[in-house]
Amino acid sequence: MRENNFVFKKLEPTDNVDSFHCSDEDLNDFLLTEAKDYQRELLAVTYLLLDPGTNAIVAYYSLLCDHVQFDKDSKKARNYINRRVLFSKQRNHYPAMKLGRLAVDVHYAHQGIGMLIMEAIKTALTSNPRFGCKILTVDAYAAALGFYESCGFRYFTETDEGDETRLMFYDLKNFLG
Ligand SMILES: CC(C)(COP(=O)(O)OP(=O)(O)OC[C@H]1O[C@@H](n2cnc3c(N)ncnc32)[C@H](O)[C@@H]1OP(=O)(O)O)[C@@H](O)C(=O)NCCC(=O)NCCS
Repeated sequence: MRENNFVFKKLEPTDNVDSFHCSDEDLNDFLLTEAKDYQRELLAVTYLLLDPGTNAIVAYYSLLCDHVQFDKDSKKARNYINRRVLFSKQRNHYPAMKLGRLAVDVHYAHQGIGMLIMEAIKTALTSNPRFGCKILTVDAYAAALGFYESCGFRYFTETDEGDETRLMFYDLKNFLG
């Protein structure tokens, strides 16, 4: 992992984000043209990771509240979660947080920064939590499935196999050990 004292910061209306460039144009475009509007409309909050040496935007991610509802196609995921809960074994829904966007600038990719961000998100959601949030979800791009698997995410259902994105989840209880 790259050793650096990167700084996490919430996106501000006055932040200049023009220089950011990852390998996915939709994710570049989101930061450039939509992230501030999403924040103003309370649809998602975006955070930047800055390189303190250059002030470059190393990566960004967006978070929004979510809700996991299991159905007949997601029995395996439901059983995985339910058998680890001490009560309410038949529960079909759980409070969740969605990682709406995650992108690392091409100059910083494959240096452990995605993993570093994931650890920071999991820590923020589990250490001294101010609300109940059991599951972290993501609509993972096909090209990034391996990354999320490395971060401990599992597939919610098999029905989206081969799609452009796949719904994946991480049980935050795992992070507490
Ligand atoms: C996917 C992305 C966020 C990963 O961030 P990163 O900083 O490059 O990833 P890391 O260096 O932290 O990699 C962590 C682990 O995931 C693996 N990994 C990273 N990217 C991967 C990929 N695209 N496919 C498969 N595995 C991947 C690495 O091999 C590493 O595993 P290891 O620790 O066993 O070696 C980043 O490459 C990116 O921004 N990609 C373009 C945008 C994108 O696809 N975002 C995801 C949207 S859902």
